[in-house]
Amino acid sequence: MKVLVLGAGGREHALVWKLKQSARISQLYCAPGNGGIADEAECLPADLKSLDSMVALATRLRPDLTLVGPELPLTLGVVDEFTRRGWRVFGPTQAAARLESSKSFAKEFLQRHHIPTAPFAICDSMEQVKSALGHFHTPVVVKADGLAAGKGVVIAKSKEEASSVAAEMLSGKMLGDAGSRVVLEECLKGDELSFLVFSDGERVAPLVGAQDHKRVGDGDTGPNTGGMGAYSTADIVDDRMRDWLVNHIARPVVAGMKAEGSEFKGVLYCGLMMTARGPMVLEFNCRFGDPETQPILMRLESDLLDAVEASIDGRVSDGDFRWSLDASVCVVMSSGGYPGTFEQGKRIDGLEEANAVQGVKVFHAGTSKREGLYYTAGGRVLGVTARAADLETAVERAYQACGKISFAGAHYRKDIAGRALKK
Ligand code: AMP
Ligand code: GLY
Repeated sequence: MKVLVLGAGGREHALVWKLKQSARISQLYCAPGNGGIADEAECLPADLKSLDSMVALATRLRPDLTLVGPELPLTLGVVDEFTRRGWRVFGPTQAAARLESSKSFAKEFLQRHHIPTAPFAICDSMEQVKSALGHFHTPVVVKADGLAAGKGVVIAKSKEEASSVAAEMLSGKMLGDAGSRVVLEECLKGDELSFLVFSDGERVAPLVGAQDHKRVGDGDTGPNTGGMGAYSTADIVDDRMRDWLVNHIARPVVAGMKAEGSEFKGVLYCGLMMTARGPMVLEFNCRFGDPETQPILMRLESDLLDAVEASIDGRVSDGDFRWSLDASVCVVMSSGGYPGTFEQGKRIDGLEEANAVQGVKVFHAGTSKREGLYYTAGGRVLGVTARAADLETAVERAYQACGKISFAGAHYRKDIAGRALKK
């Protein structure tokens, strides 16, 4: 079978690495891919901002199945377009992907279906922001409605700050069209959990839980990023909690989308805050998380392709996944300056030594390869991922591997999974 993966990040490297273990796949392609993916699959150019470009590639390649990594092609309607042409593709339609592409849609959907989430207000103007702020305590969360690669959320300490962030978003200066509407939200406290399920539009099968680390700096300081590291363990979600999350969040979402005529197929990523009042939805993503996918797939023992096909064919079941009880962790190494401006094209050394550390796999994100050497080519550069029988050992292995890698300006958090280890 010929499989095409669309995307270029650490998530896609992990998907390619896992799919490569499937006996039924004979040819594996990735577009556009990156320096590390090129070692495991044939990388082809494609512009994921253009439906025409993706259609042209698939017309030429004729894959038996396409997996879409990032949100942008999904929100452009790549699944609608491929399905219309009779091509097999894994992921939600454009209408279903609104759960991620519009935070106001997601919040109103949650409210309509009585799924727990923070109180909120949707604002299209500064007049609305000013009057809504009267109903919130500080800190207050200000979110851009549209896609912003993890950078559209600001936790404002004062109402003045909330006001000025909202003004910048609404003016279009900060995030362009993505900020032309903003959502104000009560700030929730607790541990975050990334809870992903596969859905076929009706049934759901949960993956193992993971925790991301969104802030750029140690101790959860500095601005939000796409994610600086994640871990997954057997007990991050116990059986009772998993069943609760399936019954009270994942299934109602999938049932609600179907009832509203936008069946959700693919990966539904529920970003949750585990508050004292119970789990609450912070956000949805309509795709695999990055970097959560790296530690999650490190623990997957069954064939990912089987589960993907079950989603497409409408036969998702709890038995689709078999997991290792091991712990896994991914530490993201980024370019200095990320999530602000950063330089690219720095040579990366020590990858072979890092990959030789027991239990370690270095997934590439923003890298390119030239004449056998790897260079930085993005904000998040590598996802150094380790697996071990316990979390402490997995973390030790990941950091041992990070210590062997160098590139100019490299930054990584030293406390990934630190809170879990303290408990
Ligand atoms: P989102 O893109 O909505 O997931 O937001 C990104 C990150 O911002 C989340 O992973 C949280 O760390 C933080 N965040 C979002 N909403 C809230 C909230 N209501 N209370 C506290 N933190 C939040
Ligand atoms: N790690 C969060 C995300 O994938 O959006």
